[in-house]
Amino acid sequence: MISQYQALKDSDAIVDVEYADLPIPVPLQRDIPKAAQTYCDAFRDDPMINYLDAGRRSNERLRKFYVSTILRVHRYSHILSTIDHGVAISSAKPAHFKPKTADKLLDCFVQLTQHVGRSKEQRKRLKEYNTKMKKALEETPELGENIKDMILVELLATSPESQGHGYGTALLSALTLIADVLRQKSWLTSSNIKNTAFYNSHGFVTVKDIILGDDNPCWEGSPIVVKLMVRNPRVLPRPWQEDEKNPFLDSNSLECT
Ligand SMILES: CC(C)(COP(=O)(O)OP(=O)(O)OC[C@H]1O[C@@H](n2cnc3c(N)ncnc32)[C@H](O)[C@@H]1OP(=O)(O)O)[C@@H](O)C(=O)NCCC(=O)NCCS
Repeated sequence: MISQYQALKDSDAIVDVEYADLPIPVPLQRDIPKAAQTYCDAFRDDPMINYLDAGRRSNERLRKFYVSTILRVHRYSHILSTIDHGVAISSAKPAHFKPKTADKLLDCFVQLTQHVGRSKEQRKRLKEYNTKMKKALEETPELGENIKDMILVELLATSPESQGHGYGTALLSALTLIADVLRQKSWLTSSNIKNTAFYNSHGFVTVKDIILGDDNPCWEGSPIVVKLMVRNPRVLPRPWQEDEKNPFLDSNSLECT
């Protein structure tokens, strides 16, 4: 997948576009402990995670273990990329996703463990999130049944001390370029309103706001806005001849290299 991004980046047809000076993401392989640390550090002040934590920060080592486990499994089924050995990471679930055995086991693991060690208030907030998310997905026409045909950007994070150096832009550009080449829509959940402009600049538009905490008497802060965002693929200049088959649509060429 990444080698295709490299190939596109090197292609004469689009070399002048904004990707030219970005660092190149590579598949996340061995740097999972650092990637998990990046996740924990990057989301430490995330409004939605803070809300779900309900004033009780979960054990950092446990959270790191949890994230590492997910990343280890997703290495084989997701588009999992990094810059600088785990300092910045992204993960996307491909369209038409067919879970492997490990993904199904991971799902069971997440279902079984998501309530372990959680207080009553934390469980209530998690339930609120899951219920509102399910309802929002069902009633948003751009999503709903369509999500199986769309790429889901599940994770994007840069270690706080490395933010602002273009890593997030490079990772998201690589993912949106893949979506453009495959002519697929993509979607994501933005848990921090601070990131809206960033996602807008990559073509994502808000299709639904999910509001958390608005009907919770135990929450004294402002309601948390979680955005569902969708992106249509751009039409790219073609680096191949009009009468040739699109080489990037050949499913055999979509293996990670
Ligand atoms: C969102 C995030 C991945 C961007 O990564 P990054 O490596 O800093 O990205 P870039 O350097 O390419 O900067 C992207 C944009 O974010 C802005 N930005 C970077 N660091 C920022 C920070 N600490 N606070 C606010 N904005 C920041 C940049 O100015 C840039 O804006 P621009 O596109 O208008 O120029 C990163 O800020 C992050 O990990 N945040 C915490 C986790 C998170 O919110 N992830 C997204 C889940 S919805």
